[in-house]
Amino acid sequence: MLYIGVDLGTSAVKLLLMAADGTIENVVSKEYPLYFPHPGWSEQKPEDWWEAVKTGIKELVKDADKSQIAGISFGGQMHGLVILDDQDNVIRPAILWNDGRTQKETDYLNNVIGKDKLSEYTANIAFAGFTAPKILWVRENEPENFKRIKKIMLPKDYIAYKMTGIHSTDYSDASGMLLLDVKNKCWSKEMLKICGIDESVMPKLFESYDVIGVLKSEVAKELGFSSDSVKVIAGAGDNAAAAVGTGAVGNGKCNISLGTSGTVFITQNNFSVDSNNALHSFAHADGKYHLMGCMLSAASCNKWWLENIIGTKDYAESQADIKQLGENKVFFLPYLMGERSPHNDPDARGTFIGMTMDTTRSDMTQAVLEGVAFALRDSLEVARKLGIKIDRSKICGGGAKSPLWKKIVANVMNLKVDVIESEEGPALGGAMLAAVACKEFDSVEAAADAIVKITDTIEPDKKLVEAYNKKYNVFKQLYPQLKPIYKVIV
Ligand code: XUL
Repeated sequence: MLYIGVDLGTSAVKLLLMAADGTIENVVSKEYPLYFPHPGWSEQKPEDWWEAVKTGIKELVKDADKSQIAGISFGGQMHGLVILDDQDNVIRPAILWNDGRTQKETDYLNNVIGKDKLSEYTANIAFAGFTAPKILWVRENEPENFKRIKKIMLPKDYIAYKMTGIHSTDYSDASGMLLLDVKNKCWSKEMLKICGIDESVMPKLFESYDVIGVLKSEVAKELGFSSDSVKVIAGAGDNAAAAVGTGAVGNGKCNISLGTSGTVFITQNNFSVDSNNALHSFAHADGKYHLMGCMLSAASCNKWWLENIIGTKDYAESQADIKQLGENKVFFLPYLMGERSPHNDPDARGTFIGMTMDTTRSDMTQAVLEGVAFALRDSLEVARKLGIKIDRSKICGGGAKSPLWKKIVANVMNLKVDVIESEEGPALGGAMLAAVACKEFDSVEAAADAIVKITDTIEPDKKLVEAYNKKYNVFKQLYPQLKPIYKVIV
């Protein structure tokens, strides 16, 4: 049988067709616009996602035996607020995970309701990108829209809804709403009350590998599928799906994603909370839990620097002259969209520091790659302080295509980095979840054991690790010094 994984990303949707043995038959990508209506705001139109998904699936399965397609599942950008009215119309554009408009609401939740209460109700505190502060923002700033809300959902759940008519979500993605009691896997009555919403507007909760329904016959017909028995499976937030796609399931595994965002994802068999809530405590797509640090701009910093500032799309060429690692005098703080983990500061900004007259373009490109790795290390250090021992990690995402960036990550973070045969993290993870739901495998872990193959391991080099330790000690002093400046320049 064949399985479709849909990675509903921020710049594009990636669709992947996988055979039951894990062979990737085809991959298609379709872009859609991202809107920044005000500095720090970030929106997309759910209708654009749906059109891109349909066009992409048609192209994906063009040459496949469509009668073999058994299931579709998802990895979706997390936290985005999608709201529908009583006619199922999208009320306003989705407010995305990297949108920073909710400082006031986030402060209210963390300081007035209080971090202790939030953590008790949900296992997490408020971050600007989470869904609950966005609901409060709509209530305060767009009361007419707020009144019309009949359904609340996350980005990938909108696609599942269009496919099946079923209003659903999964525990991993729901964890990022600040509305889920993560430990007990149910909606938090207290949080729903704080946000002024009734449980009836919330989606039904599923495990990531649960079937939520079948494709509506009109959708099956439009996609050219021969039957309407294609199953739709709940899927996961993109980081949990990526972890499935790289085999980071079970206990104590790590996956680093170098995508638009950058994440350090640590799997846990048992529920636990970072006592400072700097790391998110979420459900995993394998039915268990994970801790995660998320930086808002990772590979997007390199994209911004190369495409918007330097004016090149030749990423490999831009890195060709970078030979001397660990000696760069230039630092880059990668806070182009503010920062989530661990600073929780929507006002933080991208910053270069340390240039002299002999600084080259390559030094600055290198500083961008290193700055992202240092910021990922910030999250890893929080986990290390909690006593979690991590000495190796998988890696995925667009940035993981660069051998140089992977080497920088391995040495800055002092981790053995396992490179996976396929970097298609969330899309592959989505297809694997569909295969588990359709009983090709007994569990998510069994699917990962059978499908995920490590092709290379990058070992950290002792001298380079020491050199980067010194640099990291400088990097970590920069944000606290600059924090008051960021406040006055926004
Ligand atoms: C995770 C997060 C991002 C998005 C990116 O908390 O906000 O990784 O999921 O799509």
